[in-house]
Amino acid sequence: MKAAFYKNHGSTDDITVGEFPTPDIAADEVLIRVRAASLNGFDPMILQGTTELKTPMPMIPLGDCAGEIAELGSDVKGWSVGDRVCPYPYIPGEGMTGETRLGVAAEYARFPASSLMPMPDGLSFEDAASLPIAYGTAYRMMIERAKVKEGEKVLILGATGGVGVCALELAKSKGCEVIACGSSAWKLEMLKELGADHVINTSEEDFVQKVRELYGKPRMTGGGGVDVVINYIGGDTWVKSLKCLTPGGRMLTCGATAGFNPTEDIRYIWTYELNVMGSNGWRPEDQVKLMEMVAKGELKPYIHKTGGLEDVASSIQKLIDREAFGKIIIKP
Ligand SMILES: NC(=O)c1ccc[n+]([C@@H]2O[C@H](COP(=O)([O-])OP(=O)(O)OC[C@H]3O[C@@H](n4cnc5c(N)ncnc54)[C@H](OP(=O)(O)O)[C@@H]3O)[C@@H](O)[C@H]2O)c1
Repeated sequence: MKAAFYKNHGSTDDITVGEFPTPDIAADEVLIRVRAASLNGFDPMILQGTTELKTPMPMIPLGDCAGEIAELGSDVKGWSVGDRVCPYPYIPGEGMTGETRLGVAAEYARFPASSLMPMPDGLSFEDAASLPIAYGTAYRMMIERAKVKEGEKVLILGATGGVGVCALELAKSKGCEVIACGSSAWKLEMLKELGADHVINTSEEDFVQKVRELYGKPRMTGGGGVDVVINYIGGDTWVKSLKCLTPGGRMLTCGATAGFNPTEDIRYIWTYELNVMGSNGWRPEDQVKLMEMVAKGELKPYIHKTGGLEDVASSIQKLIDREAFGKIIIKP
């Protein structure tokens, strides 16, 4: 089969497109003809080898896909060749697709039948492939963990990425006032089009100062600041985010694009009785819910660009250079 792959950790120059062995399937697995795949924030990290995860080599990148069943393992029941499916990409015992198991930037991919989810009618392969990792993670973080409510002020850092755009869409759907951060003017325009009430250009403005201009400095006696900060950036944004929260506010994290061991200042946590909350991944039922929401027109994944396997390297480079917005789709 044709696939995009790399033989060692490195840069996007190490990614080539060529022939790769079509995966053999076990009795309880299916072979999926990949019709659409999408990039995520972890793709540059896995390519560069900056996580502590053990990646098989040669490695095919990307974790999210949607497609049709091309072949069934001998024990697989209840599925047929041609069924449209969107797999749950975390496989117990193997880990995340595109991290510790071969990814889906290929014509075919192997998945256990137990990971498959049927695609509702009316849901395109491109939209389905946008959903699992980024939209699933944003759904759990905003709805199940942060439980954002109407009228709350929500500050989203890195709102321009896959998780961020969905977090913005979900916060708006719940009636929140959203302050969305991005690093360039064209991305801020797109955030406004998606409904952001305020935008902050983090390459020009200090977001702590901007939040204080909008809502006042948080006061121990109450008031000032925002109710929720969505921070999967980490690094030097961590303590600054604590300084934006109103007493009793919540800071949510699901990642650390700019560093996982930032300086901490616990004075803010106790003084303002802040709640630092983790959110990890999503549950299969969240993915089903998201597919239904998109099929019914209640949510629209934001697809910035669509390309073929030959565009995998340049697309990962766009994430590294912070030139992407929302989701990038690859159609092998
Ligand atoms: N725990 C989980 O299950 C889980 C699942 C999915 C994702 N995640 C994590 O969530 C984060 C976001 O994922 P994603 O797929 O949305 O990534 P993404 O599409 O690459 O978006 C991340 C956004 O962060 C900003 N950014 C990038 N590098 C930055 C840096 N060095 N400093 C500050 N801002 C930076 C960029 O926006 P601007 O350039 O506009 O600022 C970018 O749009 C990642 O850390 C990822 O690992 C975790």
